[in-house]
Amino acid sequence: MQSLKEKVVIITGASEGIGAHLAAALRGRGAKLALNARNAEKLAAAAAASDILIPGDITRHEVQSALIEKTAAQWGRIDVLINNAGRGSYYNSSTTRLDEARAVFELNFFTPLALAQAAGPYLRETRGTLVNVSSIAGLISLPWLPVYSASKFALTAITSAQRAELRGDGVHVMGVFPGYVDTDFQRNAAGSPPQRIPGGKTVSITATQCAEAIVRGIERRRNAVVTPRAGWLLILANRLFPGLVEARLGM
Ligand SMILES: NC(=O)c1ccc[n+]([C@@H]2O[C@H](COP(=O)([O-])OP(=O)(O)OC[C@H]3O[C@@H](n4cnc5c(N)ncnc54)[C@H](OP(=O)(O)O)[C@@H]3O)[C@@H](O)[C@H]2O)c1
Repeated sequence: MQSLKEKVVIITGASEGIGAHLAAALRGRGAKLALNARNAEKLAAAAAASDILIPGDITRHEVQSALIEKTAAQWGRIDVLINNAGRGSYYNSSTTRLDEARAVFELNFFTPLALAQAAGPYLRETRGTLVNVSSIAGLISLPWLPVYSASKFALTAITSAQRAELRGDGVHVMGVFPGYVDTDFQRNAAGSPPQRIPGGKTVSITATQCAEAIVRGIERRRNAVVTPRAGWLLILANRLFPGLVEARLGM
C-alpha cells in the first residue's frame, strides 16, 4: 500500500461534494493539495492555509494550464491528478439542446482528457496516479441522465485506454464509479430529476464514505472503485441481463 504523505495531489471540483471531502481525507493522510472549482469563496472555505487554490472554470484552457503549472512550480512534482469536477443534465435525449450536450461533454470528458495530457509528463516522472471520477452511469446508461451517461461512458472508455498506455511508465490509472452520493449534485445539475428514480436514495452513501473509498483505491493502486460496493451487483446484472436492467430502469 502506498503512503500519500507529502504526495502532491490535484483535485478539480473541490469546493463542495465529493471533491471537498476528498480534499479533507487526503489532507488527513498528509498530502499537499492543489484545488480548483469556480466558486472561489466556497473553495477557500473547503481549503487549508497550506493548499494551493486555482479558482476558475476548469473547461477553460488557461485554467487547466494554471492548475498544472502552478502546482508543479510550487512543489516541483505532481503525484496524483483527480479529475472530479462534473455535472449532471436531466434533459431527455430527444429534446436536449446540442450546446448543452456539448457543454456536458466539455466538462465531463474533454477536460479530464486535457488535464491528463497536461499532467502526463509529471505523472510519468513520479510514477503517480491518474483518477477519473466517472459514475455508475458510465457503465449503465441511465435514461433520466442520457447525455451525462454518454459523457461518463466516454470517460470510462478513455480511462481504460489511458491505463493501457501509461502502464509501461508505471502510472496508475483508476476509474471511480459511484452510485448515489449524498451531495448537491442534483441541485447543481441542469434540468430536473424525475420524481422517482429507480433504486432512489435508499442506497445512497455520504460524500465522506465516497471520498474514503477513492483514497483507499489510490493507496492500493486499484483499477476501479465502485462505491457503494452493491453497485457491482447492478453492473453484473447489466452484463448478464442487459434487456432486463434496461426495462427496470425505464421511466
Ligand atoms: N453525487 C452523485 O451521486 C454522483 C454519482 C456518480 C458520480 N458523481 C460524480 O462525482 C463528481 C463530483 O460530484 P458531486 O456529487 O460532488 O457534485 P457537486 O456536489 O455538484 O460538486 C461538483 C463540484 O464540481 C465543481 N465544478 C462544476 N463545474 C465546474 C467547472 N466548470 N469548473 C470547475 N469546477 C466545477 C463544483 O464547484 P463550483 O460550482 O464552485 O465550480 C463542485 O465543487 C462528478 O464528476 C459527478 O459526475 C457523482
